[in-house]
Amino acid sequence: MPDTRKILVTSALPYANGSLHLGHILEYIQTDIWARFQRTRGNDCLYICADDAHGTAIMLKAEQLGLTPEQHIANMQAEHERDFTDFLIGVDNYHSTHSEENRELSAMIYRRLSDNGHIASRTITQAFDPEKQLFLADRYIKGTCPRCSTPDQYGDNCEACGATYSPTELIDPVSAISGATPEEKDSEHFFFTLPAFTEFLRNWTRSGTLQDEVANKLAEWLEEGLQEWDISRDAPYFGFEIPDAPGKYFYVWLDAPIGYMASLKNYCDENGSNWLDYWKKDSDAEVYHFIGKDIVNFHALFWPAMLDSADFRTPNKVCVHGFLTVNGKKMSKSRGTFINARNYLDHLNPEYLRYYFAAKLTAGVDDLDLNLDDFIAKVNSDLVGKVVNIASRTAKFVGKSGGVLAAELADESLWNQFVEAAPRIADGFERREYARAMRDIMALADAANAWIADKAPWSLAKQEGSEAEVLAICSQGVNMFRALMTWLSPVLPNTAAKAAEFLNSALDWNSATIPLASHEIKKFKPLLQRVEKTQVDAVMEAAQESLAQLQAETKAATGPLADDPIAEQIQFDDFAKVDLRIALIAKAEHVEGAGKLLRLTLDLGGETRQVFAGIKSAYAPEDLEGKHTVMVANLAPRKMRFGVSEGMVLAAGPGGKDLWILEPHEGAKPGMRVM
Ligand code: 2FM
Ligand code: ZN
Repeated sequence: MPDTRKILVTSALPYANGSLHLGHILEYIQTDIWARFQRTRGNDCLYICADDAHGTAIMLKAEQLGLTPEQHIANMQAEHERDFTDFLIGVDNYHSTHSEENRELSAMIYRRLSDNGHIASRTITQAFDPEKQLFLADRYIKGTCPRCSTPDQYGDNCEACGATYSPTELIDPVSAISGATPEEKDSEHFFFTLPAFTEFLRNWTRSGTLQDEVANKLAEWLEEGLQEWDISRDAPYFGFEIPDAPGKYFYVWLDAPIGYMASLKNYCDENGSNWLDYWKKDSDAEVYHFIGKDIVNFHALFWPAMLDSADFRTPNKVCVHGFLTVNGKKMSKSRGTFINARNYLDHLNPEYLRYYFAAKLTAGVDDLDLNLDDFIAKVNSDLVGKVVNIASRTAKFVGKSGGVLAAELADESLWNQFVEAAPRIADGFERREYARAMRDIMALADAANAWIADKAPWSLAKQEGSEAEVLAICSQGVNMFRALMTWLSPVLPNTAAKAAEFLNSALDWNSATIPLASHEIKKFKPLLQRVEKTQVDAVMEAAQESLAQLQAETKAATGPLADDPIAEQIQFDDFAKVDLRIALIAKAEHVEGAGKLLRLTLDLGGETRQVFAGIKSAYAPEDLEGKHTVMVANLAPRKMRFGVSEGMVLAAGPGGKDLWILEPHEGAKPGMRVM
């Protein structure tokens, strides 16, 4: 291997269809730390990403929003790029799969597959929505489960009883898009002949490209036998038309991984380099894809087989990670544990999460839990309490003796612990065993703090003639801080940049363990604040609000009937527990910082309540004051970011401007029970 490695890394391209959530961010942080680590080691490492812009879902979403697909994906890409920047994800290029580069490369690769006899065609029968004139993928068909008769189940499996079936077996199937009854219709499709690559894939998946657990899973699939892969979709479809096949489009997953090449090409064209240097057969570059465990088949079967057929090199590694859970639960919209990237960024420093993920990431595929209490404790104890503390305890004494570090180390043997640890820490980053690297770094921080506490320069400084000794101790403290910050720089790029300024010295891996001697440093300024629980609470509040907004938007777009069936039956006793009362809206006010909420002061005939209501999109405060409405009076108080909400007002409508509070007829007085 040459001294300077030439490396290309990618993260899975997010769909241009929705906001990024913390599950996405986990992957980008994992990739970014690796890329930054490679760069700080002096390697030439490009981190490339893009939006994955094609497919039926994106086409339908744009239609719902009243936008062209191009407008919709442009909006989404801008949002995604902001999230990347604000999470300090240092991609070298962020492009789109809906680009000229990708159109050309996809056509070129398809032609090569076809010329090599790896594209087959045949007619298949599929469900078709006669109203929308659209073939329906399984997830767009709903109906009653053939096994347990639960209504409103999606395409191929029942959420109630777990049965799996083909959509044709559903009782009373309907198109989830239009509500029409699907018909069966024939159409010609193109297939990639994956089984022809079985032997190639048996070898490739066992050649060090995959984690063992992933390779084992693939061995099972290979044993069961591979199927041909349907790579075409009929119009209308948002994507690239297949060459010489009018009305047929590449399935989104065909051109998505080619998007890795296309974004790289876009970068290389702008920077005077050649994308083929990375992808040609005899390339001396290394290629790494970081992905989640749900898309292994695309990256470790279809993609290497396509590359092989099309005469390109295959990746060195596909690095697979597990899913993110929040407080031990799957990130889920219904449980309120679904946190968007922006919900987090609005309230917390991105470096906290970068560190927390690093402290928990291994090279395995196990899920990673974001436990919010642990998050607060770990960030405060490790980053603020251990690492930054070393500098804040020692820097001021260096400052007092002129701001120049001592010429000699105070304790060589302690320093040697740092020197000896460096290769192991590098190995942890290289192998994606970040948790191990963070533990090693924190163990050294502990050793440094214990040593400083033992030397107690603050006491020593009170003794006459101790200046040189105090300076020697504190200079070593500053140097230990510098080594730790260098190793943490792939994780904490902002704090590392501030530390470099304070240290008046660049932080790079190769000089981390060469102490600064007789070197002038700058005045120390606080580097990182503690995380407060209120900030974490605010993130969770914001997450709930985003979710409510998303649900309201979805309802507004689909209409109340298509996606809003009558809820599960309840008993009369359950209903009787709800205490509905007439309330007078005595006051209605804007809530600073809340996108959708109004603060209502409700008069229940003697008693007043504060209620936050998500009706700002439909009402100005002055329209509401003096009106009577209906409220749930015995709802347990809920602590929200802006205060406690003591009940709920009732409103109807799909959302947005179309939302109406319930207004009783005259005669109904505040406090009266609604029955
Ligand atoms: O699963 C997803 O979110 C896909 N958009 C990932 C695509 S990765 C690559 F192949 F483009
Ligand atoms: Zn069922």
